[in-house]
Amino acid sequence: MNITRASHVALTVSDLDRSIGFYERVVGLVLTEREGSTAYLRGLEEACHHSLVLVASGDEPRCLRLGFRVFEDEDLHALHERLATAGHDPRWVDVAHQGPTLHVDDDAGVRLEFCATMDTVPRRLTHFSTYAGGSGQRLDHFQLQSPDVASGRDFYCALGFRISEYIARQGEPPEGVFLQRKGNPHDLVLFTGPGPRLHHTAFTTPDVHTLVRACDVAGELGLGRNVERGPGRHGPGHALFVYLRDPDGHRVELFTTHYQVMDSENEPVRWEPGDPRIAIPWGLPAQSSWHEEATVFAGVPARTPASYAPMTLERFLAS
Ligand SMILES: [Fe+2]
Repeated sequence: MNITRASHVALTVSDLDRSIGFYERVVGLVLTEREGSTAYLRGLEEACHHSLVLVASGDEPRCLRLGFRVFEDEDLHALHERLATAGHDPRWVDVAHQGPTLHVDDDAGVRLEFCATMDTVPRRLTHFSTYAGGSGQRLDHFQLQSPDVASGRDFYCALGFRISEYIARQGEPPEGVFLQRKGNPHDLVLFTGPGPRLHHTAFTTPDVHTLVRACDVAGELGLGRNVERGPGRHGPGHALFVYLRDPDGHRVELFTTHYQVMDSENEPVRWEPGDPRIAIPWGLPAQSSWHEEATVFAGVPARTPASYAPMTLERFLAS
């Protein structure tokens, strides 16, 4: 099936101009084009037509689908057969600026979109004089909140995803899993929480100075409160990060990319739940909004897991 990477995401927004401005000026993405009520954006190094699709809508902000690439169109047919054999309902769809495209819902109802090709556009990587905000380079991964991480892990591993790191007590179901296809620690992260919901979409940024610049630009534009968490250092993956909320509350992460993990002998790294280095090796825990707020998927009700009591900044300070 040869899924190659996390590729693109489609989100609804309430004010398209406002959202385009946020992603161009604060995150530093490039507007490829705007067609009616839809805007297509991409990172500075991306030659694909879009990695972020914004669709104007008067309804509650939501995620329409998560996009992944496969290597060739032949792989789409193999994926279709595999999914149909497993009892899922894959469907061929026409999507603007993409080649043959397959839709399927994962076992939690998350709409997935697979394609092998997309319209191409010039990379802007060396257009240094046009860099803005956080200089978002490329889409790297998605993180989902999931009421049943083990079930989600099994679904994606059956499609060929590999586990790079995970959070679990020895011999118990995981509380979080980091799944990858492209050879760095994650294309898709599943974390226990009310879901399925999209917790964040992550774009790479060149360096820590650029993370700070995104925060400075947000502050200058009166969006300082949209800087939700960080800058800080991740435990799993070890990257430096900052989390921003866009004007509709969709969360976007800018981070300084990852280490390489692609050899078959690489054993998944296990993190012990409760180890404070998981969430934040230094500094303070994330505020409650980071744990509790996320983007719903269109038409998919979220379910709260039986036990969900993350260590929030508020609880940490109260203790
Ligand atoms: Fe992330």
